[in-house]
Amino acid sequence: MPLNSLAVTVRTLVDGDIPALEPILRQHVRDRYTGEIVESEVQLIKDYMRRAPDNAGRIRHYLVACDDTGQVVGCMAVSHPDVEMTNHFATNAGESVELLNAFVSEEHFRGKGVGRALFEAVCAYGKDCGARYLLVNSGPRYPESWGFYDRVCDSEHGFIQHKYGEGRHAKTWKKKLS
Ligand SMILES: CC(C)(COP(=O)(O)OP(=O)(O)OC[C@H]1O[C@@H](n2cnc3c(N)ncnc32)[C@H](O)[C@@H]1OP(=O)(O)O)[C@@H](O)C(=O)NCCC(=O)NCCS
Repeated sequence: MPLNSLAVTVRTLVDGDIPALEPILRQHVRDRYTGEIVESEVQLIKDYMRRAPDNAGRIRHYLVACDDTGQVVGCMAVSHPDVEMTNHFATNAGESVELLNAFVSEEHFRGKGVGRALFEAVCAYGKDCGARYLLVNSGPRYPESWGFYDRVCDSEHGFIQHKYGEGRHAKTWKKKLS
């Protein structure tokens, strides 16, 4: 374990974690040009955390990372892939799971191992669900995270064109789970 890493435990989100996650969402869910918080999207993610279906009809399963004081420092979600992802990867929804909503507190991201711990827990969860692959996409708002996915996934798989609107392409990655 690197010297600067943070000891975290990863567990399933409970509703009581959402207030602690909200400031982390507000750090990262921002318009890429103006830097303004995208309030509607923060609200949607909180709804998904309370098990509301997303626009693909999916219920997202959230994992949270906590430091040794119990403070929540990040989250990732997993669900079955949407149709654009299954088409892009030429897979079926039963064979794969998709990573969603990866956010680590600015205080602890990029190098302390929090994202890796969450990612490994997501992979273990996907494998327990019977999936063979974890699929990832990341849109143009988050290019600074692409190095993370290059590091933790097996391979990148090009872009889904216009995934997040006209001209907003999503880069994709894949990881084998078994
Ligand atoms: C993307 C994110 C969840 C990753 O979590 P993290 O805690 O920063 O990741 P870790 O510190 O565990 O990094 C794991 C490995 O990836 C590497 N890494 C992390 N971010 C990287 C980056 N931007 N570029 C290159 N490598 C990176 C780390 O050095 C580490 O390598 P190592 O295990 O060999 O030492 C986090 O950076 C984040 O919340 N970013 C802002 C929001 C965001 O962009 N979310 C993704 C939306 S798609």
